[in-house]
Amino acid sequence: MNLSGGGMSQKTVSHTLRVNGSTHVLELRPAERLIDVLRDRLGLIGTKEGCRMGECGSCTVLVGGRPMLSCLILALRVTDAVETIEGLAAESRPLREAFADAGAFQCGFCTPGQIVRAVALLREGLPLDEHGLRREMSGNICRCTGYMGIIAALRRIQALKIG
Ligand code: FES
Ligand code: FES
Repeated sequence: MNLSGGGMSQKTVSHTLRVNGSTHVLELRPAERLIDVLRDRLGLIGTKEGCRMGECGSCTVLVGGRPMLSCLILALRVTDAVETIEGLAAESRPLREAFADAGAFQCGFCTPGQIVRAVALLREGLPLDEHGLRREMSGNICRCTGYMGIIAALRRIQALKIG
């Protein structure tokens, strides 16, 4: 662990982050959150910050394949591979098309987080009923209340996979 800089607030630690298949060696301040590193240092601005409190899900990324709230994670704690909406572009294409067809977004602010969580769900296997879909997506808030469209999009994907 390399510490450098003057006062406490200036200390940085060298840390390796794997993001969307690329490896980045970064000098990080201890308090830097994963979302700050993704957006401000790596230019991955598809990940959105809403509440900053772990309540809206707009900052969802995959860490080690699991959906995590990047506003609540210190970047220095992250050792597993990170996937953001940018890295999921190809995999999420059918989902994004289903969202568009179902009118599942209005302002679009929550959409990257919704799509990232849905990708994780698809990898695990979508719940079969609407109640299960709503439960699994409940951590992702849509302030435009586009929930009917979001669930309709997931049901469309479900039908494609089953059919
Ligand atoms: S910005 Fe992270 S949960 Fe709202
Ligand atoms: S589409 Fe606007 S917050 Fe969800």
